[in-house]
Amino acid sequence: MEKFIINGGKTLSGKVKISGAKNSALKLMAASILADSKTILRNVPEIEDVNIMIEVLRTLGAVVDVDVENKVVEIDPGSISSYEAPYELVRKMRASILVAGPLLSKFGKVKVAIPGGCNIGSRQIDLHLKGFEDMGAKYSIEHGYINCQVDSNEAGAKLFGTMVNLDFPSRGATENIMMAGCLADGQTVINNAAREPEIVDLANFLNSMGADIQGAGADCIIVNGVKSLDGTDYEVMPDSIEAGTFITAAGLCGDRVEIENARWKNLEIFYSKLKEIGVNISIVDENNISVDAPREVYRPTNISTLPYPGFPTDLQPIITVLLSVVPGVSIVTENVFENRFMYVDELNRMGADVKIDGHHAVIKGVEKLSGAPVRSFDLRAGAAMVLAGLAAEGSTEVSDIHHIQRGYEDFVKKLRNLGADIRKVS
Ligand code: UD1
Repeated sequence: MEKFIINGGKTLSGKVKISGAKNSALKLMAASILADSKTILRNVPEIEDVNIMIEVLRTLGAVVDVDVENKVVEIDPGSISSYEAPYELVRKMRASILVAGPLLSKFGKVKVAIPGGCNIGSRQIDLHLKGFEDMGAKYSIEHGYINCQVDSNEAGAKLFGTMVNLDFPSRGATENIMMAGCLADGQTVINNAAREPEIVDLANFLNSMGADIQGAGADCIIVNGVKSLDGTDYEVMPDSIEAGTFITAAGLCGDRVEIENARWKNLEIFYSKLKEIGVNISIVDENNISVDAPREVYRPTNISTLPYPGFPTDLQPIITVLLSVVPGVSIVTENVFENRFMYVDELNRMGADVKIDGHHAVIKGVEKLSGAPVRSFDLRAGAAMVLAGLAAEGSTEVSDIHHIQRGYEDFVKKLRNLGADIRKVS
């Protein structure tokens, strides 16, 4: 089994360039189904989740060409002849369900495996389905699959635009419904929509294909259905969560780390929390920053995760590692996923003092962490364990690293370039 071995205590310095955003690339790839011609995506990260989305698209019948060296993926949806996202793929990656909106909008039908639980919580898809229903689809659940189709006997019948009110600003539901609205008849209005920058990236991408979407980035998105969409040529935005991971690594054990493509405006609350802790972030320009870490002045803080523009849940395990070595008591509250503190026992095995009380973590900063064998529970918790290992005294062995490889491009290489002593062993 592959593992990362980390000899902690090295000082990180130098430059790191942030890759394309996983949580944007996957959606743009799914959205390319809506076009009648080929789409070219640039700055696509070479990560396991992208490989799974490529498999999903190929399973549907799309022709996908990948130029790994130049990070370009070309998707020709012209030969799609299946409307099913199979369990083997949805099980590996929940975001596979994002093909449902495009397939339903373009072909009027889709069969998608129910994703089931994951390591951070139960993660329903009820809001996606309710949105599709509001737009004139009906669905049934059989043998672990959702069969969904436009509720009409008329050949070629389309979804229709309507008002969709989300109980919670789910990103996935917002994206699926926004994509479903693109080829629907009439106007779809999504209220209480998710507002993440990746939603804006998806809307910009769809508009560049000929869609008519307004309001992305605000809580009311309006999609005017159009007759057809063309393929486009589009560059994926940089990954804010990867940027947040490297910034936190720099805060933990860095000495001037420059971060290219940080696109700091997408993460303002995260930056203000790091400043509260005492991490020194200098803005070079809108894409680039540098991080200094005067660790002797660090102080505790309280953080609550919330949908954007709140503090991102994906950076919760990562900042908890930093707070675990900040003197004083910090409280981190998780409001988005019910099960996102599973990694805390592992962190405590490295000498941290974190107690969980419901959805709060009470963190008493310790002087140092000590290396230990630990597991990755999920993608971000796995990255958090790597950061803990970098800061710890002695050697840390991180197992189950397939979780980390789902979402971080060249993680080991980038950390080694900054001076970390980390290697992958099989
Ligand atoms: C996306 C991100 C993930 C991030 C999360 C929250 C991708 C591929 N993944 O996941 O990294 O952690 O946003 O920022 O972009 N919910 C329901 N019913 C639904 C849909 C969601 O109850 O139909 C609940 C979920 O169980 C969860 C919360 O809403 O508690 C947030 O989920 P959502 O915003 O949909 O997250 P994802 O899009 O799955």
